[in-house]
Amino acid sequence: MGLLDNKVVLVVGVGPGLGKEVARIVLNEGGRVALADISEEAMADTHAELDPNGERTLTCRVDLQDESTCLAAVDAIRNQFGRLDAVVLVAAFAGAFDLLADRTIENWKLTSDINVAGNLRVIKASTDLLTESGGGAVAIVGSTAGVLPTAGYTQTAYGISKAALIAATHYLSKELGARGIRVNNVAPGYKMGPALQSALESWAEAADTTTEAVSGPILDTLSLHRFANDVDVANAVLFFITDLSRNVTGQTLYVDGGMILH
Ligand SMILES: NC(=O)c1ccc[n+]([C@@H]2O[C@H](COP(=O)([O-])OP(=O)(O)OC[C@H]3O[C@@H](n4cnc5c(N)ncnc54)[C@H](O)[C@@H]3O)[C@@H](O)[C@H]2O)c1
Repeated sequence: MGLLDNKVVLVVGVGPGLGKEVARIVLNEGGRVALADISEEAMADTHAELDPNGERTLTCRVDLQDESTCLAAVDAIRNQFGRLDAVVLVAAFAGAFDLLADRTIENWKLTSDINVAGNLRVIKASTDLLTESGGGAVAIVGSTAGVLPTAGYTQTAYGISKAALIAATHYLSKELGARGIRVNNVAPGYKMGPALQSALESWAEAADTTTEAVSGPILDTLSLHRFANDVDVANAVLFFITDLSRNVTGQTLYVDGGMILH
């Protein structure tokens, strides 16, 4: 018996990293999954790898900036699966990493429109079907960047958007709690993958040293002295979208190896 038997989960952002791992874990736990992404290629790759016969998956193109695609995805889920039990919001725009002085306001607005308004568009579109299905869970993927400035202090727009998602988690847990919908936030710290690898390489190049040399001082700030991987973060998402956390809402869980301590 799986933790998600007979459950349906919408995952937005199923690219090569975290979203694919979340979809894999949902299928492993007996659930069905709607794979949503702006990229047809990301959806096709994840679908082909996880469920080539398409027995327990559905793909639906979602652009977080376009509310009509969020509504269409929920309609497709209703038509194919007839219910929705959880929504996992993985997709994000990291934007260019630069300082306020170097950033255009248009670029700032883009980051916020995708990361903040985009997640709200999906949650708003999903609320009725979650309610009709007996309540459910929303897991927002945030970042430690929302509370702790890092990466040369150049993640300003991204960090502000992730901080706003912590506030959204608080407010929506209050608003949607009455409908039996829990809202929580999983905030990774340094997560190994293409983004971190390329950041380490560029910091190493700038300092004319190796990626191991630049990794060392970062790892020293983490109690566990290790970077997270996608499975570590997907397991935290699993906690929030199953009954394991049935009395938990409005919380942010840092999956950061012990960087931020409360
Ligand atoms: N990589 C890290 O070190 C790190 C650290 C902290 C938090 N995070 C967060 O973890 C999450 C996953 O990161 P990842 O690097 O594994 O992601 P990823 O790049 O593997 O996947 C993100 C997916 O989002 C999709 N996407 C982008 N814009 C979209 C839009 N407008 N509409 C719909 N889909 C869109 C992309 O096509 C992609 O498939 C993000 O929310 C990110 O902010 C990552």
